[in-house]
Amino acid sequence: MPAANKDTDGGWRSFVWNSERKEFLGRTGCSWFKIFAFYVVFYGCLAGIFIGTIQAMLLTLSNYKPTYQDRVAPPGLSHTPQSDKGEIQFSMNDPNTYKGIVKAMDNLLAKYNPDNQEDITKYEDCGGETAGDYKERGALDGEGGMRRACRFQRDWLGSCSGGDYGFNEGKPCIIVKLNRIVYFRPKPPQNNETLPAEAQLNFQNNVLPMYCTNKREEDKNKISNIKYYGFNGGFPLQYYPYYGKLLHPNYLQPLVAVKFNNVTYDEDLRIECKVFGANIDYSEKDRYQGRFEFKLHVKSS
Ligand SMILES: *[C@@H]1O[C@H](CO)[C@@H](O)[C@H](O)[C@H]1NC(C)=O
Ligand SMILES: *[C@@H]1O[C@H](CO)[C@@H](O)[C@H](O)[C@H]1NC(C)=O
Repeated sequence: MPAANKDTDGGWRSFVWNSERKEFLGRTGCSWFKIFAFYVVFYGCLAGIFIGTIQAMLLTLSNYKPTYQDRVAPPGLSHTPQSDKGEIQFSMNDPNTYKGIVKAMDNLLAKYNPDNQEDITKYEDCGGETAGDYKERGALDGEGGMRRACRFQRDWLGSCSGGDYGFNEGKPCIIVKLNRIVYFRPKPPQNNETLPAEAQLNFQNNVLPMYCTNKREEDKNKISNIKYYGFNGGFPLQYYPYYGKLLHPNYLQPLVAVKFNNVTYDEDLRIECKVFGANIDYSEKDRYQGRFEFKLHVKSS
């Protein structure tokens, strides 16, 4: 038994290092070197092809222009406060129930403070509160350098521009934005007849009007006296097109604030807001495309 043991042991050992033939794990140093050199070259080429392909693809992309944009238009509507379940619920007499909302609104509007828009190399006036035509700033390339942004003043949102945004009086505000799409020109409705009857009052030139109403028939008389702020409740054309993050870093999206001045308390109300325009679409699948809905519940106690 000890002899056999010694034999197998010796076989293993001589496989690892065969001193007679100077082989390590069955190969000579020269052979190992060739294998090593082969793999260095092989993986080197693979890495080269990989990097080369990516570089070639990056060369075809522009820093300024999205290459594939067909899937993002038409734009979505987003609103603040936003909650995961699409529900805005608070108690008008308990500030703790809406202080998070007020903070979110303050954060959103901080960029719209006048002192943030003083630098004339970054901002310019585009007709103040009067809606105008598209503000063209040249082609979408690096030639023109950084583009200036149109000012949008926070106080254009009237009683939705600060404080408790109406939450303390049971007349909550929401603030709505049309999502940014690079170089997109939203088109206003052709005429007021394409709008629902009530929304026709919001119709004006050079503006995409927005309109909120009850989603369910049974809430019809529970929501009234809705007021719109910021270009009379619409998105004015002079804020478009947007030139993208690199060329338009200080861009301010136009805002619309909606104040619900007379809602029935202590009930779930379903509200839908929609923006209207010739190239605005709505989708069954995307609940935020051109519209959104939410549940409002104001507790009176
Ligand atoms: C709709 O437009 C027509 C013609 O432009 C105008 O006569 C009418 O008063 C408008 N209606 C509303 C509700 O603004
Ligand atoms: C608020 O709405 C109710 C109906 O829900 C109505 O009776 C009341 O007059 C409205 N108040 C104001 C100030 O509009």
